[in-house]
Amino acid sequence: MSKKIVIAIDGFSSCGKSTLAKALAAKLEYVFIDTGAMYRAIALYFLRNNISFNDEQEIKEALNKINLRFQYNSVSEKSDMILNGENVETFIREMHVSSKVSEVAAIAAVRDFAVAQQQAMGIEKGIVMDGRDIGTVVFPNAELKIFVTADPTVRVNRRLLELQATNPSITLQEVAENLQHRDLIDSTREHSPLKQAEDALVLDNTHIDRATQFEIALNWAKERIVLS
Ligand code: DC
Repeated sequence: MSKKIVIAIDGFSSCGKSTLAKALAAKLEYVFIDTGAMYRAIALYFLRNNISFNDEQEIKEALNKINLRFQYNSVSEKSDMILNGENVETFIREMHVSSKVSEVAAIAAVRDFAVAQQQAMGIEKGIVMDGRDIGTVVFPNAELKIFVTADPTVRVNRRLLELQATNPSITLQEVAENLQHRDLIDSTREHSPLKQAEDALVLDNTHIDRATQFEIALNWAKERIVLS
């Protein structure tokens, strides 16, 4: 049997990271972890419990009460996020969470909490993890690092289509503003900002379809698996 590797996929919001990560994991029979879902669930908990984003003690106590786990959903063929026993997969994708999650993800204690769990999930390798700091902080020794990018207009339109499925009244402007806001905070925050790892391979999917993107990434993965 071939050796298992760690595949780290990073990039800006809505550039197709999760779609790619999920497809790669299914093909390689690896575990897929959407780390954004973890930050979203923490943000949801903070919002529901009125946790102040500036109060270190309150944040520490809140994190002690948070239990996160993933549970496979055979309909979506993806893992749902479970927060303290409750399936919050739908809630964490709502706009009120999206508009605050970058602020929550910028808090050092929140990052330490999430990163420790992410690293534990990858101990046995055979994992495809997507996020913002996977190749730089969570798995700096990952055998394959992919930095996914796409033109901002393309990203906004893709995200709009996705969100309209559950929220038909959402506007292009709302989606564009949210993406710009998150990209700015995610890439300029003090702790683990989004940046391309030096040894990451760049995959710009502005002009290529999902199938082509998948083939390119799968070939990179196969090369690394043979070498490892
Ligand atoms: O991938 P996503 O859009 O669901 O991520 C939600 C937010 O969480 C995003 O604005 C940035 C943050 N995030 C992060 O800081 N680090 C990660 N590894 C994943 C997500």
